[in-house]
Amino acid sequence: MFFVKSYFVTGTDTGVGKTAITAAIAYSLRKRGIDLGVMKPIATGVAQKTGPFKSEDVALLHDSSQVKDDEKTINPVFLPLPVSPYDASKILGLKIDMGIVFERYGYLVKSHQMVLVEGIGGIMTPIAKDFFVADMIKQMSIETIVVTRSTLGTINHTVMTIEMCRKYEIPVKGLIINYFDENGTHAERNAPSTLHEVTGLPILGIIPFVKDYQKPEVMANIVEKNIDLNALIS
Ligand SMILES: Nc1ncnc2c1ncn2[C@@H]1O[C@H](COP(=O)(O)OP(=O)(O)OP(=O)(O)O)[C@@H](O)[C@H]1O
Ligand SMILES: [Mg+2]
Repeated sequence: MFFVKSYFVTGTDTGVGKTAITAAIAYSLRKRGIDLGVMKPIATGVAQKTGPFKSEDVALLHDSSQVKDDEKTINPVFLPLPVSPYDASKILGLKIDMGIVFERYGYLVKSHQMVLVEGIGGIMTPIAKDFFVADMIKQMSIETIVVTRSTLGTINHTVMTIEMCRKYEIPVKGLIINYFDENGTHAERNAPSTLHEVTGLPILGIIPFVKDYQKPEVMANIVEKNIDLNALIS
């Protein structure tokens, strides 16, 4: 099968919009006829009581992309505590099986044109004492997209994230700035140009706060207008 490209979507922090944006990109690319796979290799949090998926993120990624893959492939590791994977593994007294994560990722890459992988937390979120999300990305040999905010404090978080990517020699396609408020403070309005200047990376898109973000078609419409999806697939 013709292989387009895969991306690991990470962020400067938890709650920065990785799922909302990945799901919207997946929805749009599927509409363009791309055979897409989605993955959330490790998820933590309260298990959903309804629906086929324990993780809310996984349910959203699945619904937006309409993939046929099963839960064990989309989300090989789920730990039912709202903490980092390493903390969850300590509390639950188990070791996270990275072998199954890489095996399922390999399967997805072989069976789809493109795979969008959502990270967990940020790049230095621990999976084990000496194994971080950055180690997982490195081992997947996958290009990364970094989701950031535009509020005060984001320059520091973004530069640190990009510096760690450089240290790990993880290629970064660019930044997506989420929750942008064009009527916001100076810091907010300057964020896109300053983040570009200090990281030297392309800004792949600027996404405003979206009222009806829960509806995949609404978020996808915003993403299509604000992110050059052709640049992601070329
Ligand atoms: N542009 C936006 N406009 C409005 N709400 C948004 C936007 N982006 C994200 N959200 C909402 O903000 C919350 C956090 O976003 P999301 O779950 O995508 O973050 P995340 O980075 O995936 O978090 P986690 O680290 O928990 O996986 C969610 O309720 C999400 O739907
Ligand atoms: Mg998420």
